[in-house]
Amino acid sequence: MTTIIQEREMTVMTDQVNGDSAGGYGAMNVTEALTFIGERAAPRPRVGIILGSGLGSIADAVEHPVVIPYADIPHWPVTTAQGHAGRLVFGELEDVSVAVMQGRVHYYEGYSVEELTFPIRVLGELGISTLFATNASGGINLGYKPGDLVAVYDHINFMGINPLVGRNNEKWGPRFPDMTYVYDREYLEMLESAAMEEKIPIRRGVYIAFSGPSFETPAEIRMARVLGADIVGMSTIPEVLTANHMSVRAAAVSCVANFAAGVKPEKLHHQEVLDSMTRAARSMERLLRAFLRKIS
Ligand code: HPA
Repeated sequence: MTTIIQEREMTVMTDQVNGDSAGGYGAMNVTEALTFIGERAAPRPRVGIILGSGLGSIADAVEHPVVIPYADIPHWPVTTAQGHAGRLVFGELEDVSVAVMQGRVHYYEGYSVEELTFPIRVLGELGISTLFATNASGGINLGYKPGDLVAVYDHINFMGINPLVGRNNEKWGPRFPDMTYVYDREYLEMLESAAMEEKIPIRRGVYIAFSGPSFETPAEIRMARVLGADIVGMSTIPEVLTANHMSVRAAAVSCVANFAAGVKPEKLHHQEVLDSMTRAARSMERLLRAFLRKIS
């Protein structure tokens, strides 16, 4: 019987034999995933959407859905996090062809950087030109409260990893990608006008990501506030960096699920995060739809 680690090592070895290691590790595996998805007659998506914790219900709104469980797609990392369904849903939303990731994998689940970026590489190869990422966050900014939606306009990568480490695949993007406008400026304006039309209050904020899985300490949150962060989470940055690397324009909307550690005396619980996100799913869906109408 082979263990998971042994299987992983075998995959890496095979890829090395194929001259497809490091940054190229993904290329061959991505091709296999693309072939598999192509055989299911999925349409070419224009927009990739990542639904974070508790927001999975938005995928139910997709019209003419073709649903593929992550576990069926060769090499696709399977989500273990509570509140993530683990399915890729192709179809249309507001007449825009979309590929919706109902759940994502996180670094804290133990995945390698190649695995973390794999879904974005596949969506990029499928031809998406836009990534719309959502997530749950803790509110660091003392003016934020649970339920607030935040359009992310910049981030601080405090995860201790960069998903672009490894041999660079020039076909996907440059070795040193620029990150000045990692969240597309035009999309930010579209998000804000979409929110205004829908009468959904929205803020602009800086997202900081820690690796997790433990929540931050109050001292870490005070540090993050001094550094200029408004919200804190454990995801999104690897995906957005990868999208940028592939010249896929990115927008990210975070839902403040809880006050960050130490803002209030109460302890943090994951269930609180899920409950807040379930409550926010309707306004997130309205915002997403209004955004899609603008880019269509
Ligand atoms: N910290 C990190 N990630 C999170 C939080 C938090 O407070 N809330 C939701 N995701």
